[in-house]
Amino acid sequence: MWSINGKTVVITGATSGIGLEAAAVLAAQGASTVMIGRDAGRLAHATAVVEDRSGARPASYVCDFASIAAVGRLADRLLSDLPAVHVLINNAGAVFAKRTVTSDGVEATFAVNHLAHFALTERLQPLLMAGAPGRVITVASGRHFKGTMDFDDLGFARGYQILRAYGRSKLANVLFASELARRLEGSQVTSNSVHPGRVATNIWSGAPAWSKPLIRFWLSRTFIAVSEGAAPVVALATRSACEDVNGRYFDRFEPALPSALAQDRDVAARLWRESERLVASALKVS
Ligand SMILES: NC(=O)c1ccc[n+]([C@@H]2O[C@H](COP(=O)([O-])OP(=O)(O)OC[C@H]3O[C@@H](n4cnc5c(N)ncnc54)[C@H](OP(=O)(O)O)[C@@H]3O)[C@@H](O)[C@H]2O)c1
Repeated sequence: MWSINGKTVVITGATSGIGLEAAAVLAAQGASTVMIGRDAGRLAHATAVVEDRSGARPASYVCDFASIAAVGRLADRLLSDLPAVHVLINNAGAVFAKRTVTSDGVEATFAVNHLAHFALTERLQPLLMAGAPGRVITVASGRHFKGTMDFDDLGFARGYQILRAYGRSKLANVLFASELARRLEGSQVTSNSVHPGRVATNIWSGAPAWSKPLIRFWLSRTFIAVSEGAAPVVALATRSACEDVNGRYFDRFEPALPSALAQDRDVAARLWRESERLVASALKVS
């Protein structure tokens, strides 16, 4: 019988929105939470919020996911500080109004939302194995249905558009989660992705200024509250019934079929190889 009490849960993007809410709820249920954020001040504030709400003392680590070298340093610290990880929640996400390229030479939406999580999960495998049975939960999005994958132009050197880049990064999340599940088979560590719903968070803070009033209008009318958005992520981390569920995409609480492209094993395998290549070349540059 799975219980989150006493389990070590690493959450990326824990300074706001779904990640912060999930950290608070899981800490209140007795998990030992490890909060990752890119800004020390926001991280200190977020850990104080979690402490207030749960009475627990979360650990926290600063890491900017726009840098693969920084993700490597984060992994080194986690590997030396923690004996095991039972749940890894790959949640950090961002959008960029204008095409932005990281210091690693990777389009920033793809870099932050997918590649950093790919690199972190790979490096944390020894901790996940030490914590087995365990779970990797990747927060994807229904936006992946609009996502395309062009391996000749992954970073939209041609035709960048904020939602196209976001859709591709979220498609990468679903493909990554299912390929990881195949690679983890038999290990007692599962990998699933989840669409949390349309949630009133800061995710669109990187959208163009002209679109913000429209987004605020939609946020106030159609988007669900952060606590509701975090609930499916918390459910995947805590439910005993999820123990043997591997390689699925969840539309909130229910397993669902992702897009046809997201189900394509060849695309998933190619994305994996391409991600390995990008991580290796980023580490060579830094
Ligand atoms: N909100 C929705 O409607 C919705 C729908 C489907 C999927 N999602 C997914 O849910 C996840 C969480 O997003 P959210 O809605 O909770 O948005 P959010 O409130 O903006 O939270 C995003 C988190 O990611 C962090 N982050 C952004 N860029 C980063 C970087 N370069 N390095 C490290 N951390 C970084 C943010 O840190 P800062 O606090 O420093 O900015 C924040 O902690 C994302 O993967 C998003 O794609 C959201």
